[in-house]
Amino acid sequence: MCGIVGAVAQRDVVDILVEGLRRLEYRGYDSAGVAVVNNGELKRLRRLGKVKELADAVDASPTPGGTGIAHTRWATHGEPSERNAHPHVSNDQLAVVHNGIIENHTALKKELEAAGYRFDSQTDTEVIAHLVHKIRQESDDLLSAVQQAVKKLDGAYGTVIMDTNDSDRLVVARSGSPLVIGLGIGENFIASDQLALLPVTRRFVFLEEGDVAEITRTSVRVFDKDGNPVEREEHESTISYDAGDKGQYRHFMLKEIHEQPHAVTNTLEGRLGKDSVLDETFGNGAAELLKKVKHVQIVACGTSYHSAMVARYWMESLANVSCNVEIASEFRYRKSVVQPNSLLVTISQSGETADTLAALRLAKDLGYLGSLTICNVAGSSLVRESDLAFMTRAGAEIGVASTKAFTTQLVGLAMLVLSLGKHNGLSAEQQADMVQALKSLPAKLEESLSLAERIEELAEEFADKHHSLFLGRGDQYPIAMEGALKLKEISYIHAEAYAAGELKHGPLALIDAQMPIIVVAPNNELLEKLKSNVEEVRARGGILYVFADVEANFESDENMRVIDVPHCHPWLAPILYTLPLQLLSYYVAIIKGTDVDQPRNLAKSVTVE
Ligand code: AGP
Ligand code: GLU
Repeated sequence: MCGIVGAVAQRDVVDILVEGLRRLEYRGYDSAGVAVVNNGELKRLRRLGKVKELADAVDASPTPGGTGIAHTRWATHGEPSERNAHPHVSNDQLAVVHNGIIENHTALKKELEAAGYRFDSQTDTEVIAHLVHKIRQESDDLLSAVQQAVKKLDGAYGTVIMDTNDSDRLVVARSGSPLVIGLGIGENFIASDQLALLPVTRRFVFLEEGDVAEITRTSVRVFDKDGNPVEREEHESTISYDAGDKGQYRHFMLKEIHEQPHAVTNTLEGRLGKDSVLDETFGNGAAELLKKVKHVQIVACGTSYHSAMVARYWMESLANVSCNVEIASEFRYRKSVVQPNSLLVTISQSGETADTLAALRLAKDLGYLGSLTICNVAGSSLVRESDLAFMTRAGAEIGVASTKAFTTQLVGLAMLVLSLGKHNGLSAEQQADMVQALKSLPAKLEESLSLAERIEELAEEFADKHHSLFLGRGDQYPIAMEGALKLKEISYIHAEAYAAGELKHGPLALIDAQMPIIVVAPNNELLEKLKSNVEEVRARGGILYVFADVEANFESDENMRVIDVPHCHPWLAPILYTLPLQLLSYYVAIIKGTDVDQPRNLAKSVTVE
């Protein structure tokens, strides 16, 4: 689930490994470790906490060696501790790092204990080390031992195995958790994400599901799930990213909030004609496929699910296409009825979210016209396995709390609405008007960022609060949900979102001066209804924070703080109103002193169920 880095080289690799881990830190993790072989001897260092702790340990205790593996762990089985941190070792000979979950670890552990293996950790991962070790006793080489071992594993894994008795190679296996091979000159690498390897190479080979590969300094051999040798295409990475570069900003999250006007500009670039969305926007063959679509099923998780919820309002009101939206972990485990001429859309920042990927795979046999993913990571599993892909061009998002990935997803969905609308009665004038609105969006976003100072002041009032409520109506209801998710993720304040009309059906009972109520109020056809909801709160002594259109005529008073948001095309208000809510959660988190970029218990890329 978290980070893997491995290397086979002539030079010492420990610094490359630790730097790789540092570049994967944004994914969230609880401990880190590294193991290197030098002259047939294994040296392992592990630390609870940050990669910095591990780096200090490496500095204090030189760790030479040309073959090594490293890991940042996001605990699923066994508490975060040094003892549970990876690499795990069997008989001082085999070292293993693993992302994912071995579901049948209890049964395997029993078998291995019966065969005399002693377990040092509480992790599921340790069974891989002992299992490969056991098989290795009778097999000719590490590769065939791993090939046999993975047949016995149920669950999800990206794993790298190193053998001190054969330290010229690493053997890696992928099933449900991504791995990418980095190709060097006279040296080769492995990682769970290409970002980890950018300082050493730009040439990558993405492993497919079920692949097992052997990597030496001068060769890479890949075998598919049936053990057949296969050629996997080489890709040249164009990502530009420096993990150390927060620029002038204190946190990646703040940097990424401020990058949104630029990220949206990039996402729009080359995709809009004068009055419509260009046909090529969604990839080769998209125009033909989109013409036939009469229903859209969107599947996603977390923040990406919120962008899907906004799209549902847009699809039905503007594109005249019916639309269902579902959380991926629910969709994948229920029987659903597929409407005729349906397009399956997945949305994901990382492109590796296990539930979303499983939903896509499941849907392949259900009779959809095709699948489209809206994604921020080129070469990710969702992009490779979908029929069509729309790449949001947000740039690498490092903060665990998603910001620019969300707003660029909304831009992608807005373009999809325009493309589908073209075939379903959206008039040429409406299309032209909407294209203009999209073109003016980056400038509006820039304007809204100037609210930062005022929001920073207001954030002080949240310092002693434990609960909060977010309200919105129509396409702003999912924005209220996203605002609540951001606040709880990074400030740990309990936050709930309600469709404002639901207030009187229960949550009104919670209102008192200790519960801030955040309202998103653009000047749209629901404004008067929303104003009534605001009055319901005022009448019960609630303290309101109203993010309102400058023309919506709210006035600040003792119990109501009004934050004027620039006026914009009502269609795109959900995108615009997201930014002030992101800023609010950021500044509240600063006051609370939490770890903004790597909030506790969370991971950037959720590659386990
Ligand atoms: C966002 O702030 C969250 N950390 C989380 O909800 C995230 O959106 C979710 O895990 C889905 O991830 P994805 O977009 O990479 O699929
Ligand atoms: N399940 C393993 C553990 O708990 C791996 C976790 C991870 O993906 O980081 O150690």
